[in-house]
Amino acid sequence: MSLRPDFPVPEHVAIIMDGNGRWARKGGMIRVRGHESGTESVRDVVEASAEWGVKHLTLYAFSVENWSRPKAEVSALMSLLKKFLNKERETLLKNGIALRGLGRLEDLPDSVLRTLREIEKETAHGTKMTLRLALSYGGRQEMVDAVRVLSQDISSGKVQATEVNEESLAGYLYDSDMPDPDLIIRTAGEKRLSNFLLWQASYAEFVYTDILWPEFRRGDLLAALQEFDGRVRRFGKVLDTDPEPQGSSSP
Ligand code: IPE
Ligand code: IPE
Ligand code: MG
Repeated sequence: MSLRPDFPVPEHVAIIMDGNGRWARKGGMIRVRGHESGTESVRDVVEASAEWGVKHLTLYAFSVENWSRPKAEVSALMSLLKKFLNKERETLLKNGIALRGLGRLEDLPDSVLRTLREIEKETAHGTKMTLRLALSYGGRQEMVDAVRVLSQDISSGKVQATEVNEESLAGYLYDSDMPDPDLIIRTAGEKRLSNFLLWQASYAEFVYTDILWPEFRRGDLLAALQEFDGRVRRFGKVLDTDPEPQGSSSP
């Protein structure tokens, strides 16, 4: 029997795919082998998410800070990304998955950006799931970029400063169609956001696993979804199901 959740799945799952370097080192290989191997996990997780009814999947693939890695690793990651995009093109189309880039995409090498834009266009009508690849992405940079455009709109009179609220500000983020993530998974045992979706993560649930990204498969995703299913989300409120402290009586 194939693996599948028997409970409702979150609408938006975001994953901080970490541990490629450690996985490679464990096997006595260079870091790039870990990134290569990690693409297999991406394929399996994308396929399973679409199959299980996740509507939005966001994968943190390359942070703004990752540009500071050794030049050889950065360029290997960029070629790998292009190769991955070309390889997955047909599958995305066939499975109704819309691909979108999220981040300072203009900083990507021209040929990678061109490929990404082509696939974004080709797959735009996919309705099964939206797959976002966070590339050259930083949560703080996203807010800076948003505020820059917003300030221009205020200067030109298009927007009044008094009209700025959470909703209108969110409209200036990289992808205004993206709902906030319900669940953020991070692999490889680190427990931090590393500049991922700072604004959008305000009420996300976090699931951490020690599994290194190249070893992460749909069964591990299922376990994370199950853990999420057991969480109680309060959004700052008191729920009817929250127990009263012992000995207290209602007014
Ligand atoms: C995640 O794996 C992939 C990227 C950040 C591009 P790492 O390359 O960070 O692997 P570790 O953390 O060094 O093991
Ligand atoms: C976060 O991983 C970025 C991605 C997964 C793309 P890092 O490995 O770069 O994060 P830090 O440096 O451990 O915080
Ligand atoms: Mg890392």
